[in-house]
Amino acid sequence: MKILVVGSGGREHAIAWRLAQDEERHEIFCAPGNAGTAAVATSIAVGAEDVAGVAKWARENGPDLVVVGPEAPLVKGLADELLSIGVPVFGPVAAGARMEGSKRFAKEVMDAAGVPTGRAETFTDAASAKAALARYGLPVVIKADGLAAGKGVVVAETREQAESAIDDMLVGNKFGAAGAEVLVEEFLDGEECSILAMTDGESVVLLPSSQDHKRVFDGDKGPNTGGMGAYSPAPVVTDAMLPEIKEKIVMPVVRELKRRGTTYRGILYAGLMITPEGGRVALSGSRINVVEFNARFGDPETEAVLPRLGGSFATALLHAATGCLRDEDIVVRPECAATVIVASAGYPGSYEKGKEITGLADAEAAGATVFHCGTKSDGGRTLTSGGRVLSVTGMGATLREAVDRAYAGVAKVSFDGMFYRRDIAHRAFERG
Ligand code: AMP
Ligand code: GLY
Repeated sequence: MKILVVGSGGREHAIAWRLAQDEERHEIFCAPGNAGTAAVATSIAVGAEDVAGVAKWARENGPDLVVVGPEAPLVKGLADELLSIGVPVFGPVAAGARMEGSKRFAKEVMDAAGVPTGRAETFTDAASAKAALARYGLPVVIKADGLAAGKGVVVAETREQAESAIDDMLVGNKFGAAGAEVLVEEFLDGEECSILAMTDGESVVLLPSSQDHKRVFDGDKGPNTGGMGAYSPAPVVTDAMLPEIKEKIVMPVVRELKRRGTTYRGILYAGLMITPEGGRVALSGSRINVVEFNARFGDPETEAVLPRLGGSFATALLHAATGCLRDEDIVVRPECAATVIVASAGYPGSYEKGKEITGLADAEAAGATVFHCGTKSDGGRTLTSGGRVLSVTGMGATLREAVDRAYAGVAKVSFDGMFYRRDIAHRAFERG
């Protein structure tokens, strides 16, 4: 198959890499790609958010499938554009991507579909939002409605924090239009996990569970990031929970979107909060609640989940894109996987770029797979070009083996100012 992967991060490298593992040989392109994707795909000089540019390339080159990595082009209507010229696309149309692009819309769909989630109200003026706080107790969660690069959520421990988050968004315009509406949301108690559900708009197949590490420092301290590591499977998700997640959470959303006229094709990523025995049960009455939906593969979850998939990945994606997804399209290998993000000093704040990365081949020789998140080629050298630079994945018969293999890889790579978390998968190990 001739396949275009849209995006330039670790997720897109993992997608292109996994396509290259298929038994059939594909012709893989990446727009725009990075220094890592270049090993498995041909980079094309079109930005991921350049909807017209991607469509033009697709018209001229006739790919069998386009796989869209990030949310921004989906929200901007890249899938709609490609479908209008007859190109199969893995990734939802804009009306479906609103599940990620608008938290208010996602809540409306969940309410209509009876899907358990934190109770929430939406406001455009600060005084009403603050008045609502009394109905929620503490902690309480304040969220910008729109896309805010993962930074638009404040879990407020005190009323003052909640009020200043409301003021930042509604008065100070901290997130611009994305924060022109805010949600005041019930705090959900428990442990988070990520379920990437593949769907063709009717059938749903869950990919293996995973867990992200959003905070920048060990012990889940410091500011939120795009994700500092992930592992799969996540033992917080028991096998007994999977039918409930599929039938009570993912399927009702897919059906509700269909009822509204939107056939959702791609990944519907459910960020879930699992409340343990003895934890505070949410107002929904369920122990499994949706924290958020995303309209795409998670990053870095993808770098831990895709290496666990067997079978033909291209066939699964094409079947989802063309409305004939079947359970057999997803084959899960028994090995565990863990991925560790190697980041630039200063991330998630400001950081320098252009540092030379060494030891990439040694990391692979140590048994790890290195996915590039923010890198670029410069002659024979590989330079940093982002906050998250590498996603180093290890596989193993046990999670411990997988984590050890990932860190053995991390130990081989080096660049000025690099840092990483040393406790990836700690929650799984704490369970014993
Ligand atoms: P989101 O961008 O919606 O994923 O939120 C970012 C992070 O904020 C989540 O990964 C959670 O850790 C936290 N969070 C969001 N909503 C809630 C909630 N209702 N209760 C507890 N934590 C939350
Ligand atoms: N890892 C979180 C996300 O992809 O949104």
